[in-house]
Order: sequence, then C-alpha cells, then structure tokens
Amino acid sequence: MQIKNSAVSMIIDASDQKELEEIKLQFLGRSGKFTLTLKNITKVPAEKRATIGKLANEVKDAIESTLEEKISSLKYQASDRRKQSIDITGPGIKPEIGHLHLITQAIEEVSEIFNHIGFTRVRYPEVEWDWYAFEALNFPQNHPARDDWETFFIKQTPDAKKGSVILTPHTSSGQIREMERKKTPPIRMLNIAKCYRRQSDVSHSPMFHQFEGLVVDKSISITHLKGTLDYFVKSYFGEDRKSRIRPYHFQFTEPSLEVDVTCGVCKGKGCKLCKEGWLELGGAGMVHPNVLKSGGINPKEYTGFAFGWGVERVLIMKEGIKIDDLRLLYSSNINFLEQF
Ligand code: FA5
Repeated sequence: MQIKNSAVSMIIDASDQKELEEIKLQFLGRSGKFTLTLKNITKVPAEKRATIGKLANEVKDAIESTLEEKISSLKYQASDRRKQSIDITGPGIKPEIGHLHLITQAIEEVSEIFNHIGFTRVRYPEVEWDWYAFEALNFPQNHPARDDWETFFIKQTPDAKKGSVILTPHTSSGQIREMERKKTPPIRMLNIAKCYRRQSDVSHSPMFHQFEGLVVDKSISITHLKGTLDYFVKSYFGEDRKSRIRPYHFQFTEPSLEVDVTCGVCKGKGCKLCKEGWLELGGAGMVHPNVLKSGGINPKEYTGFAFGWGVERVLIMKEGIKIDDLRLLYSSNINFLEQF
C-alpha cells in the first residue's frame, strides 16, 4: 500500500511526460520498487500468497491507470495552450481555389459557340460497334482507309450485323446515331466525346477529345459549311483570324476538305510555327450520300455537311497557351495545370 500511495502521489505531481517515464521505471521497471517487492512473494507462506497476489495486482492496476490519466491530462493541457496562442483577430488562411481542367473549359467554350447558331450537344457511346464507326460511314470491310484510325478492339464476339466492338476512334460514329435518333432532318448536332487511338507522341495521345458538327437539311451546300467554319474560327480564336479549305479525302464525305486557320503568332505572314501563315485545324466535308443512306435519310431529298476537330488541338492553337507536349494535359501534373 505504501508503494501504491507514494507512486500515485508522485504521478499526480509530475509536470511532464519525461518525469512520468522516470516514475514508471522507478516502480514498474525491471528493478523498480513494485517489481522487486513482487519477486519476494515466494518467501510468503503458501496460504497467504493468493491474498498477497491479488493485492499486488490491485496496486499495479492503480499505478497504471493513474499514469494513463495523467498522460491524457498533460496532452489536453498542451492542446489547450496551443489553442489559446491563436490570434483570432489575425487574417485567416485563404483556402486554395482550383479551376476546371483546361479541356473541360475548352469543351464548354466550344459548346457555347455552337449553341448560339442552333447546334444541340449530344452524347453517344465511346465503346461502339464497328458499324457506326466504319461500315455505315462508307468504309467497306478490310478497306485500307480504316488503318488511319489505329483502332483499339474489345475482345468480344462480333455481332452478325454490327461487327466488332471497338473504342470509338472518332466522333463521326455519332453521325449515324443522330440520324437514327432524329429520323427526319433538320439535324444540327454537336457531338463532343472522348476518342481512342493507338497513338502517343507530342501531338497525339491514346485518349483525346473531338467535337463533331453535323448539319442535314434540304439544300445544304458547301457555302453553309464555310460560313460555319468562319464563324467558329472568329468566335474561338479571335475576329482577326481567317479560315481556308483545301481538298482532302475521307470515306464519309464527298467532297472532303482540310480546314486551316491563320497563324496567331505571325497573323498569316509566315513563321517557324506555321506553314506559310496557316495552321491545320481538322477535317470537314459534305456528307457522302452512302452515309445518309446508312442513317435512313434519302440523299436525293437531303444534303448535309460535317466537320470533326480535336479539342486538344484547338486549345493548343489558341493564343497564349503554350503546350509543347499534348500528353501533359493528362499527366495530372499540378505544376503544369496551375500555370493556366
Ligand atoms: C477524323 O477523325 C474525322 N472523323 C474528322 C471528320 C469529321 C472529317 C467529319 C470530315 C467530316 P482525323 O483523323 O484527321 O479525322 O482527326 C481529326 C482531329 O482529331 C485531328 O485534326 C486532331 O486534331 C485530332 N486527333 C486525331 N488523333 C489524335 C490523337 N491521337 N491525339 C490528339 N488529337 C488527335
């Protein structure tokens, strides 16, 4: 009992953790007062050992629980002191505010621009049938033009009508889906989605975004396409930028075109960044009659135009955005993203 009383009063008077450690050693350590007393229990007559053993356990429990209580009371006092040292009249710590990812911002801007001229944004599957991405877009089976789309195939038994399952390599697959959904023109669709190709270098990533425009109605001509291109180029890149069209080839448009925009750095004069004052924007063209037929639309009654461009590309071509490697956009590198 004497050991218990002196240990408990020493613990209560202790002023820090270090002192408590010393008291613990002094009583419960290998050569501590309590431990040594307990060793002498063998000298006690056998009939008294049980009572003495019970008493010893009570003493040990009392010392240990007083120690625990004292430790938590010291911790509480320390945190209370810390709280009191905060100057609540001082200025607060401003939480860091993030921003939407650059691509999300670009998608929103592009959607808004086309929304003004009546295009409706749609979403179609990114895991798609071969039929929608190729066959219905006038790519015959095994046609070499398919190779340019460097497609990822999903391991699944092909469907008898719709063919293999793929990760859609372009948003053009949305053209047929939109024709099927609307059934009868007019159609004014904007399909913005993720696309996938087996490509990876400074200007290509395996996953990227495209925005696809499709207009189908009576008497739609190439002048409507050119007007839409000019409108987009001026709205997105700036009033001083111009667009031009060059002949090209796509299976699903006839005629097919490549669209260029004047370089924002040299303003069309020619510099090391561009090709004689022009930067390539993407593909476009008048919808091929076979594509209209695949979508259930009569090509004798209706015509249309389509375009499909990379969101990453238009973002990089925008003035003031300097990105040497397109893949940086998907590297989750906060230092890179915080620059914008
Ligand atoms: C197409 O994908 C056609 N579907 C575009 C089209 C639509 C033409 C409608 C006519 C009518 P192309 O393969 O060129 O075309 O890709 C279009 C744009 O997507 C490119 O100009 C580029 O900006 C972007 N792009 C293509 N592959 C990648 C990639 N791996 N990484 C980043 N951007 C890419």
